[in-house]
Amino acid sequence: MPATQNEKDTVSFTVEDRIAWVKYNRPEKRNAQSPQLNRRMYEVIDELEFREDVGLLVLTGEGDSWCAGMDLKEYFRETESQGLKGTRKAQSEAYRWWRRLRWYQKPTIAMVNGWCFGGAYGPLFACDLAFAADEAKFGLSEINWGILPGGGATKVATSSMPFRDAMYHAMTGEAIDGKKAAEWKLVNESVPLKDLRKRVLEIAHVLLKKNPVALKATKDAVRRVTEMTYENAEDYLIRAQEAANFFDNDGRKEGIRQFIDEKSFKPGIGTYDVNRKK
Ligand code: ACO
Repeated sequence: MPATQNEKDTVSFTVEDRIAWVKYNRPEKRNAQSPQLNRRMYEVIDELEFREDVGLLVLTGEGDSWCAGMDLKEYFRETESQGLKGTRKAQSEAYRWWRRLRWYQKPTIAMVNGWCFGGAYGPLFACDLAFAADEAKFGLSEINWGILPGGGATKVATSSMPFRDAMYHAMTGEAIDGKKAAEWKLVNESVPLKDLRKRVLEIAHVLLKKNPVALKATKDAVRRVTEMTYENAEDYLIRAQEAANFFDNDGRKEGIRQFIDEKSFKPGIGTYDVNRKK
């Protein structure tokens, strides 16, 4: 069923210079994830994924919040009142867009401009890279209102943070700022809010210059091999490279040519010109 106008308004997006800026757009509710928002977000990222004018997606929030987690009223209370069926439906609508984003065709960056709680850790982790404002606040606040950090949030914490920090974070529900989140590796970096967009743009432009087939293969490889034995990873990476070669047979050959024959760049220092082919 297509989204109603109300539902459409829960997410906004623009495409500028090959960057899709996707925004949580419920600032009056601190961008909490309601079922409507989750449904709309899936539609938006679906629409953008294979657009030729989109090379990269940034996920950010309208107003002073990135995302205040799940909407306690609309996602929990109202769906629970419909029984297990309601709960499961709401879960699957949320989880499916996070999963879609985890394996997104284009590189993705979380630009965390403010509050980031609980259920927001799913999309945070789904983004390949994450940059936060020093002023942002992160918390597994579930424990503060009496549940465990579900929806993958515990897994996100233990995947990103050292054990002791993850345990402390989950058990105390204490919020940390962007700097601490960077120290605990929940995000790549934290910068003052006024510099956040500029920093994200810098990284976006670095990624936009890379070979897109190699980039997708690389980001999937990093996620996949994390849970593999060395032997399995070695095998997976051989197959993944072969598959990438199938989709972009000339890319690596052109990279070698520009380095060895043309001497126009050095791979240790920069990227080959993906737009130029002999
Ligand atoms: N669910 C539902 N409504 C929310 C949520 C949420 N997660 N977060 C904010 N809101 C609503 C508030 O109820 C309020 O609605 P109202 O204007 O109709 O009264 C509005 O958004 C503004 O919220 P305030 O609390 O007034 O905003 P403030 O800027 O003072 O505080 C803060 C922001 C700290 C984010 C606070 O709103 C908060 O603690 N929210 C809940 C965060 C949280 O714990 N989320 C759940 C994580 S666990 C999980 O996701 C599974």
